[in-house]
Amino acid sequence: MRQHVNPLSRFFQLPLELPAPQELFEHPNLPIHLDIGCARGFFLLELAALQPERNHLGVEIRRPLVLAAQRDRDRQQQHNLHFLFCNANISLEAWMAALPPDQLQLVSIQFPDPWFKQRHRKRRVLQPALLHAIASALHPGRHLFLQSDVLAVIEPMVALVELSNCFARPKGDQRPWRTSNPLPVATERERYVHEQGQPAYRVLFERTDAALPALRDLEMAWQQVDNSKDIAPTPHG
Ligand SMILES: C[S@@+](CC[C@H](N)C(=O)[O-])C[C@H]1O[C@@H](n2cnc3c(N)ncnc32)[C@H](O)[C@@H]1O
Repeated sequence: MRQHVNPLSRFFQLPLELPAPQELFEHPNLPIHLDIGCARGFFLLELAALQPERNHLGVEIRRPLVLAAQRDRDRQQQHNLHFLFCNANISLEAWMAALPPDQLQLVSIQFPDPWFKQRHRKRRVLQPALLHAIASALHPGRHLFLQSDVLAVIEPMVALVELSNCFARPKGDQRPWRTSNPLPVATERERYVHEQGQPAYRVLFERTDAALPALRDLEMAWQQVDNSKDIAPTPHG
């Protein structure tokens, strides 16, 4: 099994200025789908071809994967698709904040690296600051889609989203997990999980019109929830 990149290592802490939509897409005003942790990009290469009415941006911390995905994108001349190398926790916030209102319409985080040990929790991709930036960029009715095959990974993500109080599940969605994928293409990890006969835990969240809490308040509330887990570490912790 591959070693995950440690997003906290010094090299990945350097902020990168990500290009604006005008530099990424042929039709820069189309709505944007952002896929965080897109790996080799096969999911977005297929999805972008199916959904020309949207621009799709994949961000990934492993640069060789981004270069390979971007080469495929160039070869296939998919002008509504782009891949960028970055640490989502460092460089996405400013990029999302600079987007025109309501251009970001969907954010997906699918099968994020399974940092399920409590002592590695700061390496998890969905941290209060990233969630806050996503919630701030998404207008009411726009979506955040999460899925994982590891309960110890997805449960804290769901808890954090719920703690923000500005997302709800669409009416009629099953709880605690959606049985179907709202997206028409499966990711690489999703296909593997499916082939192994293992479950995928999915939640679609819709931005409500609730006011966003201050980041500091969300961080403090999250710290309390997260620290309380130190008392009872998981059997793997
Ligand atoms: C387990 S893979 C899943 C890939 C893909 N989403 C899928 O479902 O097949 C998680 C991906 O997220 C990337 N990743 C982890 N932390 C990241 C970060 N802070 N910023 C950007 N990408 C990250 C990893 O390098 C890895 O490629």
